[in-house]
Amino acid sequence: MRKIFRDIKECKKCSLCKKRNLPTIYCGNLKSKILFIGEAPGKNEDETGIPFCGRAGKILEELLSSINLKREDVYITNIVKCRPPKNRDPKEIEIKKCVGFLEKEIALIKPKIICPLGRFSSKYILKKYFEKNFEIGEVHGKVFKKDGVIIIPMYHPAATIYDNKKKIILKKDFKKIINNL
Ligand code: URA
Repeated sequence: MRKIFRDIKECKKCSLCKKRNLPTIYCGNLKSKILFIGEAPGKNEDETGIPFCGRAGKILEELLSSINLKREDVYITNIVKCRPPKNRDPKEIEIKKCVGFLEKEIALIKPKIICPLGRFSSKYILKKYFEKNFEIGEVHGKVFKKDGVIIIPMYHPAATIYDNKKKIILKKDFKKIINNL
């Protein structure tokens, strides 16, 4: 893991490294069976290097707490490690250049359950395992199984900021984690 940290800190494979402050590495538990994959760091994450330490992180903690888990019980990372300017969506090329780090994290953690949060990480993970494109609206909360891994795509916790109904859906979808652990 130390080598992955170092490589992320030194990475200059895309232009995001020029404007970012700190890349996000991971937070939580290296021994966890559950791995969450967010999108990209926002302002707070860029200042601290800790994924989901801002507003979306509070929502993620609330969702975890609804299934009696804490941040320390799970492994949390991002598909893109550096903050896109003005919090814009990560570009396909940025994901492509960055995703090797995520692959190394998955290989090291060997999670039983992978929960991609939001459309970017869900699209990547489902394409990787099933070689097919899925829309998050049709697959959120569904339980996919492949190569001994359980994949449960979820809406991004920040989606609840603009649409309160998504929190009810997310809480329901989070229960699938416990049911499959
Ligand atoms: N949103 C993400 O997807 N990741 C973070 O680290 C913070 C907010």
